[in-house]
Amino acid sequence: MKVLVNDVLVERSEVKVDIEDRGYQFGDGVYEVIRVYDGTPFAMEEHLERFYRSAKEIEIELSLTMEELKGKLEELFAAGPFHDGGIYVQLSRGVAPRKHQYEEGIKPQLIAYPVPSKRPEKEQQEGVSAITADDLRWLRCDIKSLNLLYNIMIKQRAYTSGAFEGILIRDGYVTEGTSSNIFMIKDRTIYSHPASNLILNGITRMKLAALFAENGWTFKEQAFTKEELLQADEVFMSSTTAEVVPIIRIDQQPVGDGTPGELTKAVLQAFLQSLKEERVPSV
Ligand code: PDD
Repeated sequence: MKVLVNDVLVERSEVKVDIEDRGYQFGDGVYEVIRVYDGTPFAMEEHLERFYRSAKEIEIELSLTMEELKGKLEELFAAGPFHDGGIYVQLSRGVAPRKHQYEEGIKPQLIAYPVPSKRPEKEQQEGVSAITADDLRWLRCDIKSLNLLYNIMIKQRAYTSGAFEGILIRDGYVTEGTSSNIFMIKDRTIYSHPASNLILNGITRMKLAALFAENGWTFKEQAFTKEELLQADEVFMSSTTAEVVPIIRIDQQPVGDGTPGELTKAVLQAFLQSLKEERVPSV
């Protein structure tokens, strides 16, 4: 398997991580996961825009322009047999003697490689359960930072309790999932936390917002409480890898009648349909 390291493609077995890479030591960097369907990347530009924005927010400057990086990722596709899955793209601040502060002029380290993943069809059809947990993360969740410690703690807590996702609650309000955005439906209105510093504004979330408008479904970017979540008619999550997955139980209680709701099913169908229409073979 080939891996993009800065601007060259190398064999996976030849890639070495320096022990003083700040991404490795401090989580000092940012990342993206771009979905690939049958060898064709989906929403690559939106992901790259968010990647450059995240990098800028933590003051890391890429040596490649967005166009150049796009070209390199296309080379990565061309190098491999690559079907379903994603590309993981990571940028760390670079390699420097270990201390918290950094000097100007260290060279950022970019890597990208294919990660296999499959559409969670069973979960999409049958729905999943979730748990809730306090959102104890920092206040810049809009940056797709490598620091995922708290997300991981809660995702693991969800998995060990047999749930698929952990829903995070800050000051009584639902923010997002540990690796997804959360939507609730009440009286046929779809709600999601506003795209502020408290959530990652998902690319899937933005695609869905456009589909809600196209289909005439009422969408409010308005925070809702944990109590409202538990009283919702329907709840679902969205992400690059999960797409749209109904949440049918939260903290052991059924959501609505405990089966995937009608509007959620329609949202999933609309999303899958839009993929068919949008998929432009660019590589
Ligand atoms: N996670 N919120 C968080 C905290 C996330 O980590 C993600 C995605 C999302 C959804 O964003 P998008 O629709 O752009 O994938 C929301 C990715 C998939 C991950 O970390 O693997």
